[in-house]
Amino acid sequence: MRRPLALANWKMAMTVAESLAFVRDVQATAGDALDQVDVVICPPYTALWPLSQALQGSRLQLGAQNMAPTNDPARTGEIAAPLLVDAGCRRVMLGHWEVRRHQGDDDATVNRKVRLACKNSLAPILFIGEERAPAASDPGALTQRLERLLAGCTPDDIAQMAFVYEPEAAIGVATPVTASRLAASVAAIRAWLRAGWDAAAEATQIIYGGSVAPEHAADLLAASDLDGLGATRRGRDPVAFAEIIRRIAEAKAPRR
Ligand code: PGA
Repeated sequence: MRRPLALANWKMAMTVAESLAFVRDVQATAGDALDQVDVVICPPYTALWPLSQALQGSRLQLGAQNMAPTNDPARTGEIAAPLLVDAGCRRVMLGHWEVRRHQGDDDATVNRKVRLACKNSLAPILFIGEERAPAASDPGALTQRLERLLAGCTPDDIAQMAFVYEPEAAIGVATPVTASRLAASVAAIRAWLRAGWDAAAEATQIIYGGSVAPEHAADLLAASDLDGLGATRRGRDPVAFAEIIRRIAEAKAPRR
């Protein structure tokens, strides 16, 4: 059975001292919910090693926010999958809209990164969602993009991945997408995975990201194909994030 998942993507913020204080506080506040929910923290690169030391024996997992599409070291300013593993990461976020917009990643580049991450024992957390223009859910566009993002992947790759449904327009605004749009989009992703990947698709966690806050969590989590939530602004606030983890446990853990 899939475990529920909570993701904190801190983007380009949080000093080492703030990162260490956050994980102390969130573990104290979330309590037993941490036994029921996979919690992945994706800090800036500068905080990966100190956090991996601080999290030894803890239930929190460490992830990276991106990685290079190659392990060739001739990439000034980038970060390679084996170095992320060496620093304690077990997962890596790929395909976030900000990386697409600011660093030019297209679907083919994200696909290269997905396959390279899997080869290097980093489980991809793959972002998929409509770009800013469409105002509504577009399940057809989502599944066409999935075809491109997962080209060449094996069932073993798929089984270790997590997906984040995150439409670009929902990032950093006042409210998340509507519960009905979320349910339709996540159902389309799950159905596409089941059709192509059979048993592997059942192991794959699908969560939602984009302006998630504790007060919206219960509505969003009503989507039956959804396994959890991801956040940035509330993901940097230990009280709000611990509350999100608890709500995920309440909504998803008892049925599993
Ligand atoms: P937000 O950011 O939670 O602050 O809206 C989400 C994201 O960009 O992944």
